[in-house]
Amino acid sequence: MRVSLYGAGQFCGIVAAILRARDGVEVSGPHGRDERDAALGSGADVVVIGTTSFLDQVAPDIRDAVLAGSNVITTAEEAACPWVVDQALADELDGLARERGVTILGAGLNPGFAFDALVLTALGAVAEFDALHVERVVDLSGFGRTVSRRLGIGYDAAAFAAGVDDGTVCGHIGFPQSMRVVAHRLGVRIDAMEHDIEPLIAPQPLRASHVEVAAGESGGFVQRYRAIVDGKVWFDAHFTGHVDLASIGLEPRDEIAILGTPVRLLLSPGLNAQSGSSAVVANSLRRVVEAPAGWLTVADLPPATPA
Ligand SMILES: NC(=O)c1ccc[n+]([C@@H]2O[C@H](COP(=O)([O-])OP(=O)(O)OC[C@H]3O[C@@H](n4cnc5c(N)ncnc54)[C@H](OP(=O)(O)O)[C@@H]3O)[C@@H](O)[C@H]2O)c1
Repeated sequence: MRVSLYGAGQFCGIVAAILRARDGVEVSGPHGRDERDAALGSGADVVVIGTTSFLDQVAPDIRDAVLAGSNVITTAEEAACPWVVDQALADELDGLARERGVTILGAGLNPGFAFDALVLTALGAVAEFDALHVERVVDLSGFGRTVSRRLGIGYDAAAFAAGVDDGTVCGHIGFPQSMRVVAHRLGVRIDAMEHDIEPLIAPQPLRASHVEVAAGESGGFVQRYRAIVDGKVWFDAHFTGHVDLASIGLEPRDEIAILGTPVRLLLSPGLNAQSGSSAVVANSLRRVVEAPAGWLTVADLPPATPA
């Protein structure tokens, strides 16, 4: 299988290393911006795009890779369910993929696994349920500077609030996509979504791999999204991310509670953001190549597997 990686950052570097260790996979890249045509136009079996989080920014790259006859996996969080962001653009690229006989998938750990695929898997073990409560406590210390700043690391309280207002501080991106993927699979229509985000201001300086946090700046944040169905919270998602979880008395943890049933899935330690995401994408090559054409979500596919 021929795989081309576009995005010269942390994520594609890890995926390339995983794939190079596998038999039967020919890896090209990771390619940076100056090798865009080589990355997207090679006609590889799969093009992996790990550049940004936003649909409008990856759409031209997805289009060019599809036009060259490649299946596409992108880590852009908004691409996990692009119809949430831009129905017309999602439909256009879905149509193009169908016409060219290839598949597009937005995938990663989150969205793409922790708040959606794993939730759907857990729901397989219950006959009925009332609501979902999914909580992640995530170590953010391994992210690069761009992603860390966009998440909301290293701002004083006023700058954090201003960043949330002007869209430069996003926290984790992808809650609406994960919730829509789960709801769509279950035939549920979400009426509204509510969300909030608060910084976790560090009283002492902190150091992560690529960012330094001064005392009085955000070392992390607490974020909550709620999907409302028939006037009630149907999907309640909590995300606590921090560059030094121990300093706030926490450990990485993932928990899926299916309310109205005894089912509660607890992963301890929680899934690692870097290795987990890279594995999900590396483990998605075969399911994407074998999938029907079009823009799919993880709910349309079998689980990602290492072989
Ligand atoms: N769904 C998930 O679970 C998941 C998992 C991992 C990552 N992600 C997302 O995937 C993206 C990449 O992650 P990362 O950790 O590799 O980030 P990163 O270390 O910041 O690397 C991103 C790379 O892509 C380049 N880039 C940015 N925008 C680009 C564009 N429009 N066209 C071409 N190249 C561009 C950057 O180049 P410059 O430095 O020149 O800007 C950089 O080399 C992030 O948005 C991240 O949030 C999602």
